[in-house]
Amino acid sequence: MAQIAVIGAGYVGLTTAACFSSLGHDVVCADIDEERVARLERGEIPIVEAGLEALVREGMDGGRLRFVVGAENAARSAEFAYLCVPTPQGDDGSADLSYIEAAARQIGPVLPSEAVVVNKSTVPVGSTRVVERVLGRDDVTVVSNPEFLREGSAVHDFLNPDRIVIGSDDQSAAVRVASLYIGVTAPIIVTDPPSAETIKYASNAFLATKISFVNAIAAVCEAVGADVKDVVLGMGYDKRIGHEFLKPGPGWGGSCFPKDSRALVHIADTAGYAFDLLRGVITVNEDQFQRVVAKVRELAGGSLDGVTVGVWGLTFKARTDDTRDSPALRIASLMAAEGAEVQAYDPAVKAPVEGIAPATDPYTVCDGADVLAVLTEWDEFRWLDFDKVAGLMRTPRVVDARNLLDKAALERRGFTYTGIGR
Ligand code: UDX
Ligand code: UDX
Repeated sequence: MAQIAVIGAGYVGLTTAACFSSLGHDVVCADIDEERVARLERGEIPIVEAGLEALVREGMDGGRLRFVVGAENAARSAEFAYLCVPTPQGDDGSADLSYIEAAARQIGPVLPSEAVVVNKSTVPVGSTRVVERVLGRDDVTVVSNPEFLREGSAVHDFLNPDRIVIGSDDQSAAVRVASLYIGVTAPIIVTDPPSAETIKYASNAFLATKISFVNAIAAVCEAVGADVKDVVLGMGYDKRIGHEFLKPGPGWGGSCFPKDSRALVHIADTAGYAFDLLRGVITVNEDQFQRVVAKVRELAGGSLDGVTVGVWGLTFKARTDDTRDSPALRIASLMAAEGAEVQAYDPAVKAPVEGIAPATDPYTVCDGADVLAVLTEWDEFRWLDFDKVAGLMRTPRVVDARNLLDKAALERRGFTYTGIGR
């Protein structure tokens, strides 16, 4: 079993630390944020992630998982140091490497000889070399091992991956990293660092492309009188297409797709290739936010000025509490900019976010509302009392941007219903 340091206790780092400890390794997880570490030491999990709390407790109780403040304190006896710090979007769309570089600078002087530093964060192509330079250690190898963890099912994705990608010019370091995944069954792809880094960007960009494509098809469906639900079902049975990531919605968001797609456009531009396809994918996504706003405006009678909109869902998707780059927030702010009064509810968001103070229950936001907009696909929204909703609203009108609700049942209750692509 290996000694692993995980730098960064966010969605990616905490999942990585807890899962490696559950595989039997000795893990020390470091974060710069003292408050976060103090909470973790008390067994409090700062994020909503299925199965994570149990794994963290199990690891701590078994003495295989510890939390410390400061990367250097985790790295001193580490055979492997996983970098899981943020790579936010810079002003020009490029990824900002300053946190990665800061972490490398902290651990460089203290890492034991023969340690392997692993980039788990999504980093621009060429970052393995950057980390090598910052570490300044001939006796330490840097390897890329990108994450493919969906928020909400990150633990499941870590322990049941579709593949494990390892990028290294040093075969023995690659084999050592592969051996950490003992007990995990998945194809392992060992390649050079730029290819591993590109696999990550290309995968996220492809998934974003799929969603933008289906959102565009939904617009076509609306124009020609087709039902996108049946269209994607018919497409998905083609094994070359598949059913996954073919759900139309309010646009894609979250901590990865928006910044990774822009970063890939930037990487390609810098390298001399104009990635117009991906630019189009991003534009279709921006348009999708506007399309949802237009649907609400239309139901409201042509203007949002002075209109009260009840919003269900603020997170960028269901089963997470993450609102980073959430389409729901974008749509809410676009509506507010047109003079709408937005009152929102989300089962996982309790604190104010971007000027919105969430209500404590889904019915409150329907009170006096002219239109209800469903922006996140929380399952519980399907099972609410729609007679009660209709009674509370000024007019029972709903824009279902996730095609989540039962259209026929709502129409029977007197709702005017607008979905996406149907
Ligand atoms: C982030 C990136 O968004 C993603 O692209 C990348 O693949 C992995 O890192 P995430 O885990 O969601 O993903 O980030 P976040 O939840 O913001 O957590 C980062 C953690 O790192 C925070 O707890 C922060 O306090 C910590 N951190 C940040 C450090 O420990 N050191 C730093 O220098 C900066
Ligand atoms: C993503 C990647 O899927 C994952 O492999 C990792 O690289 C991190 O980034 P995540 O950001 O958690 O995961 O969200 P994901 O489940 O991929 O959804 C991204 C966005 O696309 C969400 O806003 C979601 O609502 C939207 N989406 C997804 C759709 O609109 N339709 C779909 O069919 C699927």
